Amino acid sequence: MDTIHIRGGNRLNGSIQISGAKNAALPLLTAALLTGEPLRLGNVPRLTDIRTLTKLLGVLGTVITRASDDHADTLTLTTPEILSTTAPYEIVSQIRASFWVLGPLLTRCHYARVSLPGGCAIGARPVDLYIKGLQKMGAEIDLVDGYVVANAPGGLKGAVIRSPMVSVGATHTLMMAATLADGETVLENAAREPEVTDLAHCLVAMGAKITGIGTSTLRIEGVEKLHGATYNVIADRIEAGTYAIAAAMTGGDVTLEGVEGETFEAALSVLRAAGAEVETPQGSVRVMRNGARLQATDVVTQVFPGFPTDLQAQFMALMTMAEGESEITETIFENRFMHVQELARFGADISLHGDKALVRGVEVLKGAPVMASDLRASAALIIAALAAEGETIINRVYHLDRGFERIEAKLSACGAEIWREKA
Ligand code: EPZ
Repeated sequence: MDTIHIRGGNRLNGSIQISGAKNAALPLLTAALLTGEPLRLGNVPRLTDIRTLTKLLGVLGTVITRASDDHADTLTLTTPEILSTTAPYEIVSQIRASFWVLGPLLTRCHYARVSLPGGCAIGARPVDLYIKGLQKMGAEIDLVDGYVVANAPGGLKGAVIRSPMVSVGATHTLMMAATLADGETVLENAAREPEVTDLAHCLVAMGAKITGIGTSTLRIEGVEKLHGATYNVIADRIEAGTYAIAAAMTGGDVTLEGVEGETFEAALSVLRAAGAEVETPQGSVRVMRNGARLQATDVVTQVFPGFPTDLQAQFMALMTMAEGESEITETIFENRFMHVQELARFGADISLHGDKALVRGVEVLKGAPVMASDLRASAALIIAALAAEGETIINRVYHLDRGFERIEAKLSACGAEIWREKA
């Protein structure tokens, strides 16, 4: 297995082009199942999660062509007919987002058989909200041999669905299912994450009738058919937030190109509170820290527009060297603290108390061999390593390759000493 090596201590200075958002691209790719016409998606990041999902779409009947430039891929996805309504365990177990094909398959074919999902091990991650929502739309759902088997003879019907909690994936799935359902579906307490809004805009470009986009009540009036469209994936706010934190950690000056600050404002305001300087001209974000130590700052993860759970691990890495004690509360996933024991290997002082981590800032971190446990935890290890004395070796970097495009190249262009050793 590959390893990533970092010799810490260099300040990051320069600019980083932010890639298309993994978590926006994934649902957009599944939307290609909703129409027989071509869906052309630009600014698609080059990541293993994207490759895994395109493999699944190929099995289901989507023909995909790829054009690449320096920054991203443009994928044209055409699904003239659905060749299989089964999303197999072998693929769905690798990536949770592939479960989201359930919505498009069921609404287009009135039948779907989709394996229960896998993905990062950050909590129990049930799918009850998806199932209850689709049942409200008239689907009969059984669980057979680890597969969700959904039937909607005569097609899905519009319904009012009030979710007891906010779920990004359930909102993606139910919104796609509702586009071809009979009548109006109202999704109450829907997710408002920018990735949900991106999917909604793409569906509208494909002929869907959706109002309330960007709010927690989405109204979708079903249509007979959707058509092809051309759409660009939004910039990755989590990648941008990760580099913003890395810049603050190393005391550098980094401009993040191609991203709007408003998509991760909660993270930027916490960085400001901790003592970093942040500027948000249109189309980029500049993060600086010169000299002074950061101040410990508390954070509670929340659904959008709150502080994102996908930046919790990275922010914890930042707080390990801040002055004072910070309390980090994780409210979205119940098991998303696996990075704590790895950060301790650098000499960080962190104790866990249920859903809270108490981080007591230290003056020095020391490089160490560490193990990535999930995607965002890997990024936290990189952030700690960039500021640590000596060399860090990160194992299990395949987690990183799921969600960060060319991370070594982007960081070394800003002065980091980081390289990959191939196994
Ligand atoms: C998406 O996961 C993201 N994944 C996650 O990013 C992100 O952390 C998460 O949203 C929250 O923002 C992708 O976009 C591919 P949820 P998702 O359904 O949709 C509970 C990353 O690192 N829940 O909003 O799976 C669930 O257990 C990944 O890029 C139910 O109880 O998240 C969790 O506690 C990791 N029942 C909470 O809701 C359900 O049926 C929020 O999960 C569904 C969810």
